[in-house]
Amino acid sequence: MSDQQTVSGPETFDRMWADLVPLGRDPDSGGYHRHAWNGADTEVRAWFTEAAVARGLDVRADRNGNLWAWWGTPGPGAVATGSHLDSVPDGGAFDGPLGVASALAAVDELRGRGLTPTRPLAVTVFVEEEGGRFGVPCLGSRLTAGEISPERVRGLTDASGTTWAQAMEAAGHDPHAIGADPEALAGLDAFVELHVEQGRALEETPHPVGVASAIWPHGRWRMDFTGRADHAGTTRLSDRSDPMLPFAHAVLAARALAEEHDARATVAKARIAPNGTNAIPSSVSAWLDARAADGAVLDAIVDGVREVAAKTAREHGVEHAMVNESLTPLVSFSHGLRDRLAAVVASRAPDPRVPVLPTGAGHDAGVLAAHVPTAMLYVRNPTGVSHSPHERARPEDCHAGVLALADVLQDLLERPVDEGEG
Ligand code: GLV
Ligand code: MN
Ligand code: MN
Repeated sequence: MSDQQTVSGPETFDRMWADLVPLGRDPDSGGYHRHAWNGADTEVRAWFTEAAVARGLDVRADRNGNLWAWWGTPGPGAVATGSHLDSVPDGGAFDGPLGVASALAAVDELRGRGLTPTRPLAVTVFVEEEGGRFGVPCLGSRLTAGEISPERVRGLTDASGTTWAQAMEAAGHDPHAIGADPEALAGLDAFVELHVEQGRALEETPHPVGVASAIWPHGRWRMDFTGRADHAGTTRLSDRSDPMLPFAHAVLAARALAEEHDARATVAKARIAPNGTNAIPSSVSAWLDARAADGAVLDAIVDGVREVAAKTAREHGVEHAMVNESLTPLVSFSHGLRDRLAAVVASRAPDPRVPVLPTGAGHDAGVLAAHVPTAMLYVRNPTGVSHSPHERARPEDCHAGVLALADVLQDLLERPVDEGEG
């Protein structure tokens, strides 16, 4: 891309963003349904490959389908940056894609500055970060980090019963090859993920860019309530085994416990069978998403919901089971690297006190942090809304993010992470 040599990262970001935004956008809601291996996901992966190749980067899919676009020959001491392109159901434009487009724009910015890295730089796209199709989040990074078994992933099913293996194969990738990739991670000196902020902390400051401190422990639990279908109009209340009732108690318990512990607990996905207006349901399956600043508090919330669900299920003659589907312990990003990023970001910031923020949102960076020195940058979100078509970031804040990321990458490429930082 010859003209990329002379333009700035913010300029190329705008062009990329204009190309990316329409891909897979729902014309009614304005949201996205980009989920692992579906049509919209294939489109955005193709967009990434084209954009990276146009920059002369060497694009490779790893054994798990994650994409790596290399500036320089892959090898030890590499710096990697990126995020994900998949969305939650009807998700926003920024969660994930902002970090990917900003990473490519940061490459343009560094080239425009005349930088020739002496160590390789990779721009990465991790698969199925949201778990929007197969239920378990951060599948691409978890597989690569060896934190989930390939057998389990191959067998995960989507809402229509299609397995991960079938979907991956249909998208042209070998599902038998998936698994841990310790060499890929051992070659990385650092990983940095830029992400839209999913809260309003930066909006309360003059800062367009912040640095991550920690990710709350969080997880997903599947709750199954099994009762007996019957006639809604004729079945006496005392004769019913209605799974909707303990389910409702569990939802309210989750909310009450989250309030009590200043945490988060949400039930946002449920499947009701047979889902008829005039039939008592035979079963309800629902997913609890719970997050807390502290692992013991998270356990207390989940145990509390389980107790209420079990007790009210018994009272209504309903069977109940609850299983954990994913769990991410507390991630405390390395203080040394975090402080180094904050110092770099401060050089363009409105004042030197760059915000350092914890979050309840999960990220691939949180999975990689146990294996590679890892850090995150957040770009201000004017409303804080995320996982919604209403998710936003101002163009000028996105530009500040690109420049901050370029500064951070330049710094990391010039000086490896030392022991105290990683
Ligand atoms: C991912 O965005 C999550 O925190 O659910
Ligand atoms: Mn998300
Ligand atoms: Mn994300």
